[in-house]
Amino acid sequence: MEDVKISRRFFLKSSGTAAAAAGATVIPIRDANAAAAAPVGAVNLPYPKTTAIAAVKSMPLNEAVSFTYPDDSSACIAIRMGTPVPGGVGPNRDIVAYSSFCTHMGCPVSYDPANKVLKCGCHYSVFDPEHGGQMVLGQATENLPRILLEYDAKTDSVRAVGVDGLIYGRQSNIL
Ligand code: FES
Repeated sequence: MEDVKISRRFFLKSSGTAAAAAGATVIPIRDANAAAAAPVGAVNLPYPKTTAIAAVKSMPLNEAVSFTYPDDSSACIAIRMGTPVPGGVGPNRDIVAYSSFCTHMGCPVSYDPANKVLKCGCHYSVFDPEHGGQMVLGQATENLPRILLEYDAKTDSVRAVGVDGLIYGRQSNIL
């Protein structure tokens, strides 16, 4: 049998033509106009702005403060770490907050102040609150969703304004 050599360019061009001829749906990888209107990955959910979670002065150092966000069925934890952390808010940029629901199967996580980690007692996943809720070890494969906070210097308080990540068990953070 005789070998037929074709160029890569010819092959790709022919394949595209054949797909179009067969009635295949062509999905553009990227719509340049849409990309200009909204950055890739941008999600604008109507997150509520809560009343203050706590006055910063009343937040104990290195202890978890419980609250709910963005609704009453979504438990969260805020921690005043004591030293500035990436993304931290407050006068010392040390306050962070996370969903309390483990990203593995939704069990509640608890704060371990001795090791400054969030632990899940169900299957022993561990998350790092000083580094964006990063999954350190265990069964979970995703970081803990981070609760976005805002600091109000006038009242010296923090409030929740959004969520970075999908809360366990939800298809959308806003129900
Ligand atoms: S539910 Fe947390 S590790 Fe399984």
